[in-house]
Amino acid sequence: MLIAHLSDLHISAGLPETAPVRRDAPEMARRIVADMMALPQKPDALLITGDVADGGSIADYDLIRTILAPLTMPLFMVPGNHDQRAPMRTTFGGDVPFADAPFLCFDAMVGSVRIIGLDSLIPGRVEGALCPDQLNWLAGRLAVGDAPVFLMLHHPPFASGNAHWNATALCEGVPRLAEILRASPAPVRLLCGHVHQAFHTEWAGCYAAVAGSPAFQYGFGFDAQEEPPIIDGPYAWWMHHQRADRSFAVHPRLIALPQRKDL
Ligand SMILES: [Fe+2]
Repeated sequence: MLIAHLSDLHISAGLPETAPVRRDAPEMARRIVADMMALPQKPDALLITGDVADGGSIADYDLIRTILAPLTMPLFMVPGNHDQRAPMRTTFGGDVPFADAPFLCFDAMVGSVRIIGLDSLIPGRVEGALCPDQLNWLAGRLAVGDAPVFLMLHHPPFASGNAHWNATALCEGVPRLAEILRASPAPVRLLCGHVHQAFHTEWAGCYAAVAGSPAFQYGFGFDAQEEPPIIDGPYAWWMHHQRADRSFAVHPRLIALPQRKDL
């Protein structure tokens, strides 16, 4: 099984609301889709870990749907802090098996793997939260079945390397989430976004990946207090290769992006 993991497309039908987002973000997403569909071995599923839209209007999601239309594999997405629940559900509810309101969470099988999505959005806030109801729902889901799980969550529950990122990460539900993941009978791969820099780590006994953003990317800022610099460079998304014997490997797919003129 091949699972593609992207994040933070920040697409808007009009001008972006977020200052560092490149004006050609929709075109960057189109390039990624075209590149993915040209791969000789295409992913079996595409997972996008939030900030799919930049402002979250119906027009934004309609544009995103048009951009993603050439893809032929099942699509899964969770909301980020720049998304809006109602329009996301309206536009993608026929593609992603969202649970009933209020949260945009889901639990689905794709071949031999399980995809679970969590909704960490706090409307109007940058940081994220998981409430007890959603955590109890997750615990119940993980208690049954033993297929490898790809758990999607926009806000990382772990430290991302500097004070700016850590202050805007998952701020509620972290200890309980760690407890649930440590108790899971199935292996869990935790997939996040939000940080706009691609990296791997380990948390609560799980492999964890953060996918970067084609809309804007941060440079290194290890142990710094301030926001890291925004940089030019290729975009990297992750191809997760889940093998039949339950071993797995993660490979970057690098996409060259045109140089930003505003940096
Ligand atoms: Fe983002």
